[in-house]
Amino acid sequence: MPKINGLPPDWQRDEFMGLNVAKDRAAHQIVDDPKIFEDPLALRIIGAEAESRLRLSFAKFQKAEESAFRAAVAVRNRYAEDELARSIQRGVRQYVILGAGLDTFAYRNPFPNLRVFEVDHPATQAWKRSCLEKAAIPIPATVSYVAVDFERERLADALRKSGFNSEELALVSFIGVVRYLRRETLLGVLSSIVSSMRAESEVVFDFAPPSQLERLRELAEEVIVNRRSRNSRFRPTYLDVAPLTRDLKRIGFADVQLVAPKEINARYCKNRTDGLLIRNRMHLIKARV
Ligand SMILES: C[S@@+](CC[C@H](N)C(=O)[O-])C[C@H]1O[C@@H](n2cnc3c(N)ncnc32)[C@H](O)[C@@H]1O
Repeated sequence: MPKINGLPPDWQRDEFMGLNVAKDRAAHQIVDDPKIFEDPLALRIIGAEAESRLRLSFAKFQKAEESAFRAAVAVRNRYAEDELARSIQRGVRQYVILGAGLDTFAYRNPFPNLRVFEVDHPATQAWKRSCLEKAAIPIPATVSYVAVDFERERLADALRKSGFNSEELALVSFIGVVRYLRRETLLGVLSSIVSSMRAESEVVFDFAPPSQLERLRELAEEVIVNRRSRNSRFRPTYLDVAPLTRDLKRIGFADVQLVAPKEINARYCKNRTDGLLIRNRMHLIKARV
């Protein structure tokens, strides 16, 4: 794997770059029936070695905790692609995948007129391109790569340079990324969407409000640890439903729609006999410019 410049050192790299969730998508293709999310490239993109290791650890994937996490990954990808199908119906021809990781949509894009912008940290993007090459997955002409570190550059500037058309509608997928960004950075990216995209463009993402324990820990650190040393450590960003909704409205989003965990399970995991469910606090959200 390439060296990742400018990243907080205490992030686990496989997690940050999306290898863990890519393995979950791959496992979902062979472990779960019926599938919540169909991804015919999920196994290929992780590489032959990872695929055979995964096939050998089949039993591990039956464990309750593993299944619940895999369900959450499958559900959030399914949600993004369901929203994309809906967007296509209303004339969207630009799909922007922020923090794309090993997302494979661009390489199985069934919509010939849909332009796909894969936006990612430069190190992750370079690594992904080497994975695509090793797996001999062809890169369609409809894909544009946009290398950006959200902590350092404005999304709007990077998109402008990459041929994104701000006069045309877009759907933005921001799945599996927000916990890795500082709160101000996240709000900056969301503001960039409002300022650079045509009205009625949309963004979809997932987030999980903190547990009581995580809330208490945050509060304790606020009181005990001084701000400087607190900021020098990189931690997941937790978002709460009400403040996030308020922030989205303040930034300029005209409409916000939430899908809470109960509704997620009712929508994507009902009538299963294998008990595959999300068991965390993951929420899905769609905000319209
Ligand atoms: C857990 S992965 C999720 C990848 C993909 N969205 C998925 O669901 O498979 C997190 C992604 O966020 C990207 N990311 C995190 N911080 C970033 C930053 N500051 N700038 C650009 N991308 C970032 C990582 O490079 C990685 O692709």
